[in-house]
Amino acid sequence: MVIKDVTLETVCGVTSVLPENTHMEFAFAGKSNVGKSSLINGLMNRKALARTSAQPGKTQTINFYNINDALYFVDLPGYGYAKANEEEKAKWGRMIENYLHRSRQLRVVFLLVDIRHEPSGNDRLMYDWILKQGFEPVIIATKLDKIKRSQIPKNIKLIREGLKTVKNTVIIPYSAITKQGREEIYTLLDSYLEQ
Ligand code: GTP
Ligand code: MG
Repeated sequence: MVIKDVTLETVCGVTSVLPENTHMEFAFAGKSNVGKSSLINGLMNRKALARTSAQPGKTQTINFYNINDALYFVDLPGYGYAKANEEEKAKWGRMIENYLHRSRQLRVVFLLVDIRHEPSGNDRLMYDWILKQGFEPVIIATKLDKIKRSQIPKNIKLIREGLKTVKNTVIIPYSAITKQGREEIYTLLDSYLEQ
């Protein structure tokens, strides 16, 4: 996959009407601060088109990036942002849920988990939801540069066990710093676009 043109086409807040896109959508879900926006920047080869932050809770809208006028990357707000108040959390939750249920073009939900940590209850809920909706879940284990190479197999095993993954679930370790894992993600995207 060669990404030539990218535009942030639609930004949806809580009260926005979701766009009825005609191209396939690939969404990026995961807990706040896990690296969704950083991964999208890495895939688009842009340093900062998707806004990132060391503070959790950066992305508070659903952002649709038009890629090559052929597909969309959908940057979702993170869940489990502890500092948000209950009302805000519920609002974002409904927004994400609403999008995931309503989109007709959604093909894949990439679920991002931090390679250093065991998945949370919310991660498990999201994984189960993806399966239940009939999507093939793809797990991206982020922040690969933060662990030693020798730790990778053990941590991947913990993620598999924590999410209780089904047999065919792919887990791709990724680093936004070294871009390790990016080619594998491109190959996967290509395989969906060819279908
Ligand atoms: P929300 O929008 O709050 O849900 O967060 P997000 O999932 O979009 O995370 P974001 O991409 O903003 O990244 C959060 C922080 O983690 C930033 O400080 C990033 O620089 C850092 N980060 C993301 N990916 C990586 C990675 O692969 N390696 C390292 N070392 N840092 C990363
Ligand atoms: Mg973000």
